[in-house]
Amino acid sequence: MAVDTSEVMITQEQIEKMLEDVSSRINRDYEGKELIVIGILTGAYIFTADLTRRLNMPVNVDFMQVSSYVGTESTGELKIRKDLTVDVKGKDVLVVEDIIDTGRTLALLKDVLYKRGAKSVKLCAAFDKPDRRVNDLVPDYCGIVIPDEFIVGYGLDLDGQFRNFKDVRIVR
Ligand code: IMP
Ligand code: MG
Repeated sequence: MAVDTSEVMITQEQIEKMLEDVSSRINRDYEGKELIVIGILTGAYIFTADLTRRLNMPVNVDFMQVSSYVGTESTGELKIRKDLTVDVKGKDVLVVEDIIDTGRTLALLKDVLYKRGAKSVKLCAAFDKPDRRVNDLVPDYCGIVIPDEFIVGYGLDLDGQFRNFKDVRIVR
């Protein structure tokens, strides 16, 4: 049976409001500073574009493609498929993610960025599913907290599909 994506969870208007909320907090916190924004591919490509266009400070935007995989250890390991081109050493870094689920990916990435000498690493996610967390990771900037449902749209996919939806829909 084909997947059903007819139920909208988050409308375009709610996404607009989320962008205003998150960007104004970031603008306030980083006033007078420079920021390296790291968008996490592929899911965060739309959020990164929308968010960075609302930021007022000088920003250097780069992308990484990472995932966590869990072997015998519950924390897992970070797999880097595409690495940064910028050097984060001594820089203030903001990681922009589409959604936080278990929290493994961002916890591991944060460690890697600090090991590379970043001055500060903060985490920003458009959506958060705290019910699914396996660690104590809390995003510094969170757009919208959602229940434990699988969602697509606004960059998020199911097997590479549905990223282009302008709103966020539940997969049934
Ligand atoms: P985690 O926080 O390490 O478990 O991984 C988060 C990643 O899992 C996200 O960046 C997404 O790629 C993916 N993911 C988690 N929940 C969803 C969802 O509801 N829809 C689409 N992708 C999801
Ligand atoms: Mg992702």
